[in-house]
Amino acid sequence: MTTEETLNLFQRYVIPNYGRFPVVLARGEGSHVWDADGNRYLDLFCGWGCNLLGHCPPPVVEAVRAQLGRLIHVPNTWYTEGQGLWAQALSERSFGGQAFFCNSGAEANEAAIKLARLHAAMPRYKIITFEGGFHGRTMGAVSATAQPKYHEGLGPLMAGFVYARFGDLESVAQLIDDSTAAIMIEPIQGEGGIRIPPDGFLAGLRKLADDHGLLLIFDEVQTGCGRTGDWFAYQGFGVTPDVMTLSKAICGGLAGGAMLTTAEIAKSLRPGMHACTFGGNAVAAAAGLAFLETIEREKLLEHAKRLGEVFRQRFTELQQQCGLVREVRVRGVMVGLELAIEGAATVKACMQRKLLVNCTHGTVIRLLPAMTLTEQQAHQGCDILAEVLQEQAGKQASGQ
Ligand SMILES: Cc1ncc(COP(=O)(O)O)c(C=O)c1O
Repeated sequence: MTTEETLNLFQRYVIPNYGRFPVVLARGEGSHVWDADGNRYLDLFCGWGCNLLGHCPPPVVEAVRAQLGRLIHVPNTWYTEGQGLWAQALSERSFGGQAFFCNSGAEANEAAIKLARLHAAMPRYKIITFEGGFHGRTMGAVSATAQPKYHEGLGPLMAGFVYARFGDLESVAQLIDDSTAAIMIEPIQGEGGIRIPPDGFLAGLRKLADDHGLLLIFDEVQTGCGRTGDWFAYQGFGVTPDVMTLSKAICGGLAGGAMLTTAEIAKSLRPGMHACTFGGNAVAAAAGLAFLETIEREKLLEHAKRLGEVFRQRFTELQQQCGLVREVRVRGVMVGLELAIEGAATVKACMQRKLLVNCTHGTVIRLLPAMTLTEQQAHQGCDILAEVLQEQAGKQASGQ
């Protein structure tokens, strides 16, 4: 099928709720993807952060192929070995709790929101979330998302969310009252522009939660599963949440999600109070286990940290040379470049040079590359991005 024919299919049959580039992606391998016309791209925004081992990672592909021939899905009224092993693997790499499985980030957050309310019990139901945060598009998760642009036309939103300023402990303390049940935050805001909290902020939230008997929920949908060079971002900050939500990379590119919490808190999610038909299905579990084992076997956490240093060094140099780069924010393979201009034209110019990057929050170039990216590929990507930004700076200076 030609690119044009596929675009025509979409025009006729697919609801146009996404802004899409007019490119049909056909195949992927590692940090490269090919379009239907045979062009190869270096992908530094692998699967919107889901392909943390790159496209079609062989150990995940093999595990899924083998599982598909044994058992694809059975309801959660039965036990499966894979789901148990997957929960154990996540628990042993985090804070030793228990898992509820689902298919997406929004679903994981819905589970956390319900757990927070069930655990606190009326009259405590309010959850404090943060301006610039992002928690998903279901009604609960979008109500937790303190960004007016995602609320337009959807009201009335779900009641019970109040919004504090990211990085401002005083604004959190002021919102706590007798009806507060939990604080929910991304330890690094992803969609909000790779915003890293100031030193001591997450520890301050931990203390506020402890002092007031609130649950501290970390949405690690984007930061989790190795992205920051630790298994979970909270480990890098030395602040442990009561509840953690995961998705995106958790199955190495297949749909999956999880909410983890301590065995004690988990008791509040009583049998029958929550469920997810496909949650923890046999194929997701096989993929999730293969994903974790691959990171360990190939020492990819260490590699992600090294890649982070390459990006930091290259972009800090670029910032010194190019006035368009205002700030560089890096944690492992989670990279944000705050620009002095809107970033859409930069994304487009990179794409013309066969480099895939993302722009979020208007002015932030966001990179969520695979942990399997080679240092050479990281340099290639930095070269292209630097060239594009220098060119744009030149145009700006000459008033074009
Ligand atoms: C931090 C965070 N939470 C939740 C979500 C929602 O995930 P999903 O699109 O899988 O529902 C996202 C998606 O980008 C996210 O970045």
